[in-house]
Amino acid sequence: MYVDYIPFGCPAKTVNRHKGGAALLKEPETIYKLVQAVRQQIPADTPVTAKMRLGYDSPEKALEIAQGIEAAGASGLTIHARTRKEGYRPPAHWERLAEIREALTIPLTANGEIWTVEDYHKCREASNCEDVMIGRGAVSRPLLGCEIKASQNNKDHTVIDNWPNTLKILKSFAEQTLTVSEGEAHLYGLMNPERYLKDRIKQWLRMMTKGHQEAAELFNIIKRQTCAQSILTELQASS
Ligand SMILES: Cc1cc2nc3c(=O)[nH]c(=O)nc-3n(C[C@H](O)[C@H](O)[C@H](O)COP(=O)(O)O)c2cc1C
Repeated sequence: MYVDYIPFGCPAKTVNRHKGGAALLKEPETIYKLVQAVRQQIPADTPVTAKMRLGYDSPEKALEIAQGIEAAGASGLTIHARTRKEGYRPPAHWERLAEIREALTIPLTANGEIWTVEDYHKCREASNCEDVMIGRGAVSRPLLGCEIKASQNNKDHTVIDNWPNTLKILKSFAEQTLTVSEGEAHLYGLMNPERYLKDRIKQWLRMMTKGHQEAAELFNIIKRQTCAQSILTELQASS
């Protein structure tokens, strides 16, 4: 078993208003107590990890918070290298993680603004972190993980991320969503697979336009379609 990380990075106003997510970055002591309380309740052989931003308004307390999380018994930490105030505005301050990485004994994972293989290498170099977490980059470029793996093995990564390979992933997602069994749908909390597909495929395609012109063309075709089956047909006809 693995306990998903305890999140201290969420910038959503509704979450922060109730003193959740990044709002807690104003209270390092509370973060410490929370991590410690979770750690004490979870079997010792189950890792407990946390994720934070650099701070709420400023990164001043980042190191203190990170050290508190380690002292509370966490076995790993991920830092989104921006403050709550900075939201998702580039750049991510990867270089700020290097000092924190140096001060911790638990593994530190770097997060924020990795969209390409080049970003990955720059982030690793600046942060000195072994591992990275990728959010939006992995959505807009689903083969990014494979590209990174190839580049780690000194293979040509540029041949991996092309539109036919990306389209295959989209098609497979659409087919699986529409043929999901009732039991699986229940398991995944998929109340309405058709609606889910319509919404997600449009959202996903729009994100893919960042890297692929073909995604923009396909998005224009399906953006007003209201039937999940016709979206799937359109995807299947696409190449
Ligand atoms: C649509 C979306 C949903 C997210 N949901 C969560 C979440 O549930 N918990 C969390 O800690 N971070 C969440 N994040 C933040 C990401 O984990 C990540 O920290 C952030 O996107 C920055 O990384 P990126 O620049 O690679 O996208 C979410 C981000 C996005 C865009």
